[in-house]
Amino acid sequence: MAFQKPPGTQDFLPGAVEKWQFVERVARDICRRFNFREIRTPMFEMTELYKRGVGETTDIVEKEMYTFTDRGDRSLTLRPEGTAGAVRAYVENKLYGEPDLTKLYYIGPMFRYERQQAGRYRQFHQFGVEALGAVDPALDAEVIALGYAFYAEVGLKDVRVEINSVGTPAVRAVFREKLLGFLEPMRDTLCKDCQARMDRNPLRVLDCKTDQHRFAEAPSILDSLDEECRTHFESLKQHLTGMNIPFTVNPRLVRGLDYYTHTAFEYKAEGIGAIDTVGGGGRYNGLVADIGGPDQPGVGLGLGLERTVMLLESQGAELENLHQVEVYLVGLGEAAERETTRLLQGLRMRGIAAERDYQGRKMKAQMKSADRLRVRFTAILGDDELQRGEIALKNMATGEQTFVALDALADAIRGS
Ligand code: HAM
Repeated sequence: MAFQKPPGTQDFLPGAVEKWQFVERVARDICRRFNFREIRTPMFEMTELYKRGVGETTDIVEKEMYTFTDRGDRSLTLRPEGTAGAVRAYVENKLYGEPDLTKLYYIGPMFRYERQQAGRYRQFHQFGVEALGAVDPALDAEVIALGYAFYAEVGLKDVRVEINSVGTPAVRAVFREKLLGFLEPMRDTLCKDCQARMDRNPLRVLDCKTDQHRFAEAPSILDSLDEECRTHFESLKQHLTGMNIPFTVNPRLVRGLDYYTHTAFEYKAEGIGAIDTVGGGGRYNGLVADIGGPDQPGVGLGLGLERTVMLLESQGAELENLHQVEVYLVGLGEAAERETTRLLQGLRMRGIAAERDYQGRKMKAQMKSADRLRVRFTAILGDDELQRGEIALKNMATGEQTFVALDALADAIRGS
């Protein structure tokens, strides 16, 4: 029996992978401009990190983690998200001791055992950033602006930004009681998920797809904010307005991870079945201390790359193809073929993407290969040309053919 990939995973084949390279290149370039530096952390961490960091009562920790015991009897978990690992590395490597803010980014696979549906995978990829060391709401705005720029620059249209304040743990404790007061009378009529969430994490009830329409009259967390939270939120809105980032306030926005304080935000777009969230993030002022570090605040985001690529495809965006062979070398005859090897190496060392035939095929078949590669040029070397020290260079767009000196081949290609 032939093997198949595990459910919820994907192979990205040549032809599709260039889209990923393009999207990743945009992400890296934006991080360069916003002064975020790349961090690479392990693909798995001690399970306890996610329990403490992401939260015991979240869906992720309760039912979605790939957890296993290694041969040394440690409980390890494939990373379900990037923030906990980045913050663990920040603490372990004492990056907080540096005078400047720590601004990190990562691009890589994450793992969650989720029900499969369009836009939801078990191995998926995130572009994430984390900025640690400041409480200034201007930094929240910078992170939101970074994600907004990413979607704009990959060419996604109609991405909306929704923001909310989820307050501090103290604010949430008060709001929780108010919300339960509203929900309790309807408990028996709510879906099973809502009922379970009422006991464990009532704020998440507002997020329910089935019952959401019944919560129009539910209390808003924005009415429960204390002075500090309100000021932070107002200031964030001013910064976003000043930066020309359009946004809407959604007081129902609650994120699926427990570490958020103050700002929570999501990027939304239509086009992937039932799913409309393409990325999200927020501030997490307690997380660093929660996992054993100093009392340092942070804010960050995670953008789903599968969803980004899927939306780009559904919007019919023309993506820059980063794989382009420029010239196909055809050698006819034994001596010419030997020379082809030398020429090919020379072109490649000059930075020109070049290819040749290795299957002993006739000229016609080789020209077909050149067509399939959509090269700009074919260079054809026969024994006659070789004796004259020349090669025929054909411009595939115009059909025009010229003879150039063998030594001048790279310059002729570069110069055109
Ligand atoms: P999250 O909302 O859990 O946040 O995930 C961020 C994004 O990852 C989602 O908006 C979605 O695009 C993508 N994503 C999540 N699960 C899947 C899946 N099963 N299949 C495909 N894509 C998925 C976080 O992970 C936080 N660490 C973000 C953050 C960073 N907050 C602060 N800093």
